[in-house]
Amino acid sequence: MNNGEKTPKVLLTRKLPDAAEKQFAKSFNCMFNAGDKPMTTLEILAAAEGCDGLAITSMDKFPAEVIQKLPASVRILATVSVGHEHIDHVAARARGITTTNTPGVLTDATADIALLLMLGAARGAHWGERMIREDRWPPPSMVTPLGQDFSGSRLGILGMGRIGQAVARRASAFGMTIHYHNRKPVTADLAPGATYHAVFDEMLPHCDFLSINCAMTPETKGLINARTLALLPKGAIVVNTARGGVVDDDALISALKAGHIGAAGLDVFAGEPNIDPGYRTLENTFLLPHLGSATLNTRTKMGLLALANLEAFFAGRKPEAQFN
Ligand code: DGY
Repeated sequence: MNNGEKTPKVLLTRKLPDAAEKQFAKSFNCMFNAGDKPMTTLEILAAAEGCDGLAITSMDKFPAEVIQKLPASVRILATVSVGHEHIDHVAARARGITTTNTPGVLTDATADIALLLMLGAARGAHWGERMIREDRWPPPSMVTPLGQDFSGSRLGILGMGRIGQAVARRASAFGMTIHYHNRKPVTADLAPGATYHAVFDEMLPHCDFLSINCAMTPETKGLINARTLALLPKGAIVVNTARGGVVDDDALISALKAGHIGAAGLDVFAGEPNIDPGYRTLENTFLLPHLGSATLNTRTKMGLLALANLEAFFAGRKPEAQFN
């Protein structure tokens, strides 16, 4: 693959499913993280000495100051994630480092988790689970607790890319009406029956549920804040499978406490794993530790796509999912 030159050396910062690592080992001189021990930035920089490429994850942060310290041998950062806000692409470009990600292969798994969050939040799943685990079967009642129906409800989707569309397909099957906001409308076949709102604020009053599926960018950072939450109908449910930074935590926690937001289902948090502790004590939250893409099949496909990106790059071809 490299015209008889030495096999490129690739550091994998985290363990990937065996089937993916097996393929990596066939193509590259790999440094695996067999124990799956989280590596600090200093450990990554040290291990990257002499490496030609790095297979990283969204847990590893590559701001400009880290990119500037990468050994000169490193020519590509291949993140095993669709999200790529943890890499400063401008700094990478300035250093002549190519960056790639893994779009497409985690669409269904992430959309499944969005639906799990919606159901979990709407039906008080964590409360019910806890009652059973703590052997506290609730007193029989027809009026408490009461959740919210999917059927007949309106779902607003912020970000109608692949994952947003997959959430829409699932929610439609549950009998929900779909609204969405995106920079541009998608073609009708990708969002059958859905109503497009060019202005985000104008969509919010139509959302019994709001699913956040946009990328984290300077424009979307903190977009869900006190002002935008106030535009949602009272009792609306907010779910996030995108990135925690899209949400202003203080504002969401206040709205949950006040009851203006009925419940929140969150798989992603600003500052993971050090999340805002305010979420933990609320009864109307359903919380997961960033499990969106966490299935064997999906994580394997993500690893294989990152591998394909690296293989293409070292063969002198343009990787399928390249930024610069
Ligand atoms: C992604 O691929 O961006 C997922 O959130 C996992 O990091």
